[in-house]
Amino acid sequence: MESKYLATSKSDAGGPSPVKFSIKRKFDALGNSPVLEKKPHVVPQIKQKIAPILLTSKRTSIEQHQRSLPVFNCRQRILKELEQNDTVLIMSETGSGKTTQIPQFLLQAGYAMNGMIGITQPRRVAAITIARRVAQELSGNIGDTVGYTVRFEDATSKATKIRFLTDGVLLRESIKDRLLTKYSVIILDEAHERTVNADLLFGIVKDAQKERRKKNLGKLKVVVTSATMDIDHFGKYFNCKGMYLEGRTYPVRVMHTKEEHEDYVHTVLVTLFHIHRTTPRNHDVLIFLTGQEEIESLAQQIRQLAKMDMSGTTDLRVFTLYAQLSQGKQLECFVPTPANVRKVILATNIAETSITIPGIRCVIDCGFVKEKSFNTADGLDVLKSVRISKAQAWQRTGRAGRDADGTCYRAYTKREMDSFADATQPEILRTNPTSMVLQLLALDIDCNNFDFLDAPLEEGLRSAYKSLEALGAIKVGAVSYITPLGRQMVQYPLDPKYSKLLLTASSFGCMEEILSLVSVLSSDHVFVSNSDKNEMAALAHAKFQSKHGDHLTLLNVFNAFSKTEKPKMWCHDNYLNLRSLTYARNVRRQLTEISERLHLALNSSDDIEMLKKCILNGFFENIAVLQRDGFYMTVSGNIRAKIHPSSVLHGKYKPSYILFTEIVQTEQTFLRQVTEISIEWIQEIVPFVKNIPSR
Ligand code: CDP
Ligand code: MG
Repeated sequence: MESKYLATSKSDAGGPSPVKFSIKRKFDALGNSPVLEKKPHVVPQIKQKIAPILLTSKRTSIEQHQRSLPVFNCRQRILKELEQNDTVLIMSETGSGKTTQIPQFLLQAGYAMNGMIGITQPRRVAAITIARRVAQELSGNIGDTVGYTVRFEDATSKATKIRFLTDGVLLRESIKDRLLTKYSVIILDEAHERTVNADLLFGIVKDAQKERRKKNLGKLKVVVTSATMDIDHFGKYFNCKGMYLEGRTYPVRVMHTKEEHEDYVHTVLVTLFHIHRTTPRNHDVLIFLTGQEEIESLAQQIRQLAKMDMSGTTDLRVFTLYAQLSQGKQLECFVPTPANVRKVILATNIAETSITIPGIRCVIDCGFVKEKSFNTADGLDVLKSVRISKAQAWQRTGRAGRDADGTCYRAYTKREMDSFADATQPEILRTNPTSMVLQLLALDIDCNNFDFLDAPLEEGLRSAYKSLEALGAIKVGAVSYITPLGRQMVQYPLDPKYSKLLLTASSFGCMEEILSLVSVLSSDHVFVSNSDKNEMAALAHAKFQSKHGDHLTLLNVFNAFSKTEKPKMWCHDNYLNLRSLTYARNVRRQLTEISERLHLALNSSDDIEMLKKCILNGFFENIAVLQRDGFYMTVSGNIRAKIHPSSVLHGKYKPSYILFTEIVQTEQTFLRQVTEISIEWIQEIVPFVKNIPSR
């Protein structure tokens, strides 16, 4: 095993880490004097395995923990900078206390007297776990002084002063209140993630600052924070200074594979058991993988191998961490294991910068990340695994050196890494801008006049305008504007396609069904596949199957779930995911509320043809046509693809025309969640859809 890897470099606290060096250079290039904390911190070594949760049992331990964080020493400086400037950029290593401490500094300094302190996060998991942590540190309950709001969940009250929220939630709030009058400070955290929502917020907070100044409405302070960001670019955009806070990291030995390996999951598995055989048990391992399915399947393999005692030792506990996981499960990986039990966490890039888990001494990096992208003129978003950037590779590496020195195993060669991009491309430059265009028009902003940090590609914008016009959401002209239907669409926190589906469902007489369907589509992975019991699972799932396709199958599952009185047992017996279905039920409740507010008739029908026509009416961009060679060709973008193996229509007779929910690209291109339709329906319901590929 050892021979599989080559040690290539050693990054240490002073850091020959390329990331940190480029950061410093950029600061110098900006010409501002960065605030460099040159003095080495005298940090009481945090003992391995101290539970962050246990810390809360004693006030003194919390204070000790807070004092040990690098940002603690910079408190005065941060406050002074913010007093003198309306906007401040703060950059420091992951785990130095930016997200948990800065809001508390601002609270103590009185910034929450006239408005809340809002902190945006790209992911709901981060917003929730960090809010909980800060509430604990302030000895309060969540929803009191500290709260959070994420899509479909609000844990705040009138008393809330520090509010964690996803960037999507703040963006939607800004539609109702452009000046963000509820807030005295907005902290835009994890700025390097550059989600579309965050990019829009950059422009919106800038505009709100200007307008509030003009109208004498009380200042809006803005803090932009990140572990790694292009400070030149941000500095110019916000016309402000950057502060670099020296973090605390330990040396990390970096190992690359000697040869390229096709199957990184296997490489990761072998590496883990090598680590397990050769390092002390209290060295916890963090593994970066791409997504839920991969994580759950590898977790299972590891558990089985550990049980079979393949490594000669057991005492290994596996945890998983990804966005769709329930909160309870997510929090489990923060709880320490006994000293003789190794903790192994399988995570997505969520653990790269937004969440810090103590005790990690080894990182295994698969080198991939799942990313949304669209690359055709008539583009649909495609979710696919792509190479990470060099900046991401270094962030992942850094996770091994938080508490003590560590090792990072990269499941790719040095040469492969040389070909990685330097930094991740902002989402706005690689995804379908349809939602964004609509949200901006709801703010009466035409994209052509918006102050973007990086403007999206014109070609993409053109197709977004076209597609929104086809949905009836906007009117395009010399001055484009949002229609009343479009205004209704932005009421739903959903992709415009889904909103349209809901808004037209009552005219098809099937609102209740569409509410259920959209809710279950918003939640992931309803079916549990267990490699041990595949046949039994397939048998259990068969009774929900609809010959029409996956949408109706999912609806059958959800309807049956809604009727059961013992959901937990029922899900277990039917190999269904209780968490996903419970989530869907919660989403449904909220979508129903919004629909009622919009005075939509909550009617119901068992006419399957009407239901399918209704889905077609919203999903007309997701039509695909069977080709002679057995592949399907999508109407938008002409993508050749097959039906995903998980579909109920997979391996059966192939319908000539189908609708799909999404395109998934792994080694092959698949259409996930498909339903049979007919050409006559296309002509009847969406006659404007042209260029249908011939069969
Ligand atoms: O935002 P940044 O990456 O700079 O750090 P942070 O999220 O504020 O975390 C500061 C410290 O708090 C880290 O050392 C974490 O280990 C600790 N923390 C924790 O123990 N439990 C949490 N739920 C969150 C943070
Ligand atoms: Mg943070």
